Amino acid sequence: MAVSLLVASSAIAQEPVRFDDLPSYQVASTGGVVAADNQYASEAGVAILEAGGNAADAGVLTMLILGIVHPFSSGLGGGGFCLYRDADTEETTVLDFREMAPAAAHRDLYLVDGEADFSLARRGGLAVGVPGEPAGLWALHGRFGELPWEDVVEPARHFASQGFAVGATLARHLHAMEEHLQVRPELLALLSNEDGELLEEGDFFARDDLARALDLFRDEGVRPFYVGPIADAIAATVQEHDGILTADDLASYHMIPREPVRGDFAGYEILSMPPPSSGGIALIQALNILAHLDLDDLDDDALLHARVEALKHAFADRAEWLGDSDFVDVPIDRLLDLDYAAELAARVDLDAVLDPTDYGTTAPHAEEGGTSHLSIVDGDGNLLSCTTTINTRFGSLVYVPEFGVILNNEMADFNIQPGEPNLYGLIGNEQNAVAPGKRPLSSMSPTLVLRDGQPVMTIGASGGPTIISGVYFALLDLLIDGAEPLDNIAAGRHHHQWMPDTLWAETEDDPRHQALQDRGHTIRHRPSFTAVQFVLRRGDQWVGVSDPRKGGRPAAPSVDP
Ligand code: GLY
Repeated sequence: MAVSLLVASSAIAQEPVRFDDLPSYQVASTGGVVAADNQYASEAGVAILEAGGNAADAGVLTMLILGIVHPFSSGLGGGGFCLYRDADTEETTVLDFREMAPAAAHRDLYLVDGEADFSLARRGGLAVGVPGEPAGLWALHGRFGELPWEDVVEPARHFASQGFAVGATLARHLHAMEEHLQVRPELLALLSNEDGELLEEGDFFARDDLARALDLFRDEGVRPFYVGPIADAIAATVQEHDGILTADDLASYHMIPREPVRGDFAGYEILSMPPPSSGGIALIQALNILAHLDLDDLDDDALLHARVEALKHAFADRAEWLGDSDFVDVPIDRLLDLDYAAELAARVDLDAVLDPTDYGTTAPHAEEGGTSHLSIVDGDGNLLSCTTTINTRFGSLVYVPEFGVILNNEMADFNIQPGEPNLYGLIGNEQNAVAPGKRPLSSMSPTLVLRDGQPVMTIGASGGPTIISGVYFALLDLLIDGAEPLDNIAAGRHHHQWMPDTLWAETEDDPRHQALQDRGHTIRHRPSFTAVQFVLRRGDQWVGVSDPRKGGRPAAPSVDP
């Protein structure tokens, strides 16, 4: 089997973000769908389905292509989470390939004279967590893949070395980082054309550097990333950039299989990501609170208010209780307990916001463009939902030139000074303090939805904490309010993360906003946040949607495989 579509698709220039061409962000098929936030990536996944691969095979290649075309978002230097539901066994498996703190990391790693120095967790060698994506892809394929490994990886190697046309999304993120890239000459050189200027939309971009890593990945599997030449190059580069990550840290990394967190809402079964993500718990907790409110016959503005209030309770508990459950005690059962949800629901005032200390059990971030979500369904009904990241745009900006790996800055997802907001403005405490081998708390929320045991949806998003609100509001809009998929992605989004006490809104002219302000909400406008990708069952078809905010396109097999 040879998957060769990438030669053809590499000639396609990606379209800029447009809302006037909405139908192009949706496909429908009985034979499976790949919805990634990049057109090349979706098409690559579909080529795998057409070649007889399943959702896991398609997911591996789709993630590899995303790391090539959107190197600011994800890649082999990062990590992520996947949920995979096997249609035959009807079992859902969670793969945790989140980055891990190096062995020499400690609680006060980023304190200088007692004060947190956020720049150290954000850029440079100290920001780098042990990458997990190679282990995640290897495990996804090893457990569920059907095609030979080399057939799934080779198209990515070929695509990287052959090159592609820079898309509008990559060009936009490159420009946003122009100033920061000036102090990283190796990465700047990679991202510049032969005249030494930053790549523009339509410029040719080949990744011979990354092709060398993919060559080893294809032939030798995951080992070279963790023990061998790639591991050695990663450790040496991080240390040159004043980091503490060692070859031993890489050798001791492993993917962790986990159980999904589960909830029931309005007849749907929700399966989502457990710790070290906060996403699944926050999502299900907010839905549980809504289930205890009488929302019938509410005006649109009151309904939005109630949904935001439920989300604020969930984010308040996120700040108090969530962290890597392999290191700290996370009361998952209690947070998802329906009686507890009823208690919180009883506090919701449909006419007013509460004092911030009355949410949860206690007391905006900048969209950085990192993180990528893909949702895949294959012709057999296997479901895949994966979110993958190097954290903020271009991660730590530490680049391993021998193998083209751009390293994450996932250490910034810890609360580097417990009690102080992290770079997303998220409050956290000792639960999410730095510790050796610990995985930083995430908001990534790959999620599957079933009804009567049958698959309904695979969904997830990128955008830091707006992932949680993005998935939450999309589920409510699509499953409860019955919105059409394209109307859902075109509608203005909302986000609240409890602290800061701000309701972020994409649109300024939402007719509900005045009534929300009257209830005490502080509403601030931000033009675009969260890129949501989902595949949803409609009749006998799967409808896949990629979010225009990141300019991706979904794809489907031209004939049913
Ligand atoms: N790095 C973003 C997240 O994991 O939430």
